[in-house]
Amino acid sequence: MPCEHPDLGPYKLTGVKYIGHSLVSSVVFSYAYNGVWFSVLAASPDDEAGGEAILSAGYKFDQSIEGKFLIQLSNLQWGEFDAARDAQSEHLENELAKLGGNACLPLMRELAPVPIPEPRTLQEQLYPQTYTLQILTEDGKLTCRQLDSYAGLTERHPPVAEDKLRVMGLGAEPTINVPVVKASQVVLVRRLQSFVWLVKVGEADMVCKTSLDTFWNSIGEELEAYLKIRAAGVEPRVPELTGIIQSHAGVIGILLRHIPHKHHSLGALLAGVKQGTVAQTEAAPLLKQKWATQIKETLTGLHALGILWRDIKTDNVLIDDNGDAVVLDFGGGNTMGWVDRDKYGTMEGEMQGLRKILDALEVETAQD
Ligand SMILES: Nc1ncnc2c1ncn2[C@@H]1O[C@H](COP(=O)(O)OP(=O)(O)OP(=O)(O)O)[C@@H](O)[C@H]1O
Ligand SMILES: [Mg+2]
Repeated sequence: MPCEHPDLGPYKLTGVKYIGHSLVSSVVFSYAYNGVWFSVLAASPDDEAGGEAILSAGYKFDQSIEGKFLIQLSNLQWGEFDAARDAQSEHLENELAKLGGNACLPLMRELAPVPIPEPRTLQEQLYPQTYTLQILTEDGKLTCRQLDSYAGLTERHPPVAEDKLRVMGLGAEPTINVPVVKASQVVLVRRLQSFVWLVKVGEADMVCKTSLDTFWNSIGEELEAYLKIRAAGVEPRVPELTGIIQSHAGVIGILLRHIPHKHHSLGALLAGVKQGTVAQTEAAPLLKQKWATQIKETLTGLHALGILWRDIKTDNVLIDDNGDAVVLDFGGGNTMGWVDRDKYGTMEGEMQGLRKILDALEVETAQD
């Protein structure tokens, strides 16, 4: 899951990646400074991708500053999910991120002395100029040096796998006709969520959603759902797929028709009413009844096409400017408090999620 990290100083922490399946993982922190990105490696000697980062003779990993953090962090990764352990891990991660960022700040200043202009296109946004650095304890102090390369860094926005594209009819010889748009042709207007932007493609307003900056790719799943809907020729209450986005790496995003709306989501609208920042009349009982019916019917339509919504929640419903509910977000994800982990991705989970939406709308409708 993408997460927002606090500003730590003159630089911003934009991501954390764990690398390796061995006992102790390496960690790569991403920082943005003056619009330039820095991938900062804290390397474990177990890391096969170490390459240039291989540590010099006499270096004692388990006595080094980064080593102590990495060993603790790796120990915390094992076993079932545990909230206290998760919080401790996050705390350690942030501590190391702070130490690493501070150690690298002089080098960041040297490599990015002046701010570069804000990214204008999706290409510039997703693939900013990036330097690779490594933090390392030398003489008892955390120091920072530049690396020419580090093989452990994978594609930042993983593309949809070729074989998956082929199955969807989007291989080298496409059997379906979906407009392909280059990331450099997608002009950013405004960020809507971590990896979702309001954009312009030519003259048209669209929404683009890209794969996350992780190893896990949700865009393939989402694209598949939209293609099934498109092939069925039905018009359920979901946004229309208007294109796929291609970068040097492959298909890394989707374009959707922009749905004009006032509130970020149904969740935001209902929260606003509760807090008194949105008028009660915007969510009058009759409206809520209508949305409940629309959401229920949409979900039934999706299920008939073999599509599961999965990440069912009021945050994934939009109320458009006509006052109708639109169902969003087929990229998976499991939000705490909505669908139980063990029911996720099953019909039982779908019904549980729907029930919770109906509860949030205070609608007493039977589910079938
Ligand atoms: N077609 C659209 N038109 C207008 N706004 C949209 C559209 N799609 C998404 N949005 C806006 O962007 C927000 C985020 O979209 P979405 O839920 O699809 O992404 P996400 O939550 O980041 O995805 P994920 O949960 O898979 O990480 C929505 O709440 C909505 O405000
Ligand atoms: Mg969402």
